Amino acid sequence: MIYEDLKGKKVLVTGSSSGIGVATAKMFAQQGCFVGVHYFRTKAGGEKTLEEVKKLSDGCLLAADMRDKEQVVRLIKDFVKQAGGIDVLVNNAGTLIERQDFADATTEYYEDVFATNVKSAFLASQAALEELKKSKGCIVNIGSVAGHNGGAKGSGLYSAAKAAVATMTIAMAKEFAPFGIRVNSVMPGLIETRFHEQFSTAERRKAVAKQTPLGRNGRAEDIAKAILFLASNAAEFITGEYIAVNGGLYMRA
Ligand SMILES: NC(=O)c1ccc[n+]([C@@H]2O[C@H](COP(=O)([O-])OP(=O)(O)OC[C@H]3O[C@@H](n4cnc5c(N)ncnc54)[C@H](OP(=O)(O)O)[C@@H]3O)[C@@H](O)[C@H]2O)c1
Repeated sequence: MIYEDLKGKKVLVTGSSSGIGVATAKMFAQQGCFVGVHYFRTKAGGEKTLEEVKKLSDGCLLAADMRDKEQVVRLIKDFVKQAGGIDVLVNNAGTLIERQDFADATTEYYEDVFATNVKSAFLASQAALEELKKSKGCIVNIGSVAGHNGGAKGSGLYSAAKAAVATMTIAMAKEFAPFGIRVNSVMPGLIETRFHEQFSTAERRKAVAKQTPLGRNGRAEDIAKAILFLASNAAEFITGEYIAVNGGLYMRA
């Protein structure tokens, strides 16, 4: 066990039917947490994650479209009912959806990419707030290095949405600090998950690995480790902060 204090915590990981969310759900379960596994379209992925979680600890399976307020409110309510509260909310659900350049991007795409990546984290955090006040819990938002550097071709609106997640993290950290709630974010670089199988060629992934100072692309577990650190007491005096996990591909002073 890495973080003893996480034992018994009630953790909801949105988007844990695939990629980073799966690794995160499993790592929290390894610490003895009760884990809420959430999916939207990939039910089989969610079921598989819960199976793994149950081998290590306990948890439950929940479904919701994170763009929809009613569904998100119900998701949080269901989790709280089954877990008996909430200590950690990981706002991980999100995606690029597809690549669109600004020149011909549609307003439908604009709305969808912001709803999927920003509105989702806003709705879940708002719905969980009263319970997080009780537990003096924490929120970890998943941004992206694209939110800093504008991302690769066709990901401009996604990058803008992830930049909004970064600023929302700081603003929430300020507003929720008086309640003892910490809010931080993790900014992944290129992580080998379904995301890049869908949106990047094998050549591009290879090229990025080559440019990366640490010599490889990220793994979902690399992100999960940073999330667990931020959720643990090891980060008890850290709020409104981000950890970039990208092998040194993007550094700044
Ligand atoms: N992989 C990377 O290189 C990378 C880099 C920077 C940031 N990120 C961010 O990291 C997070 C996880 O990405 P990943 O790489 O693990 O991608 P992934 O394997 O494609 O998983 C995305 C997850 O988000 C869920 N999701 C997507 N749209 C949703 C919606 N409308 N409502 C509810 N859930 C929704 C998916 O659920 P279903 O499949 O069940 O629908 C899935 O569980 C995302 O926020 C992504 O933007 C990833």
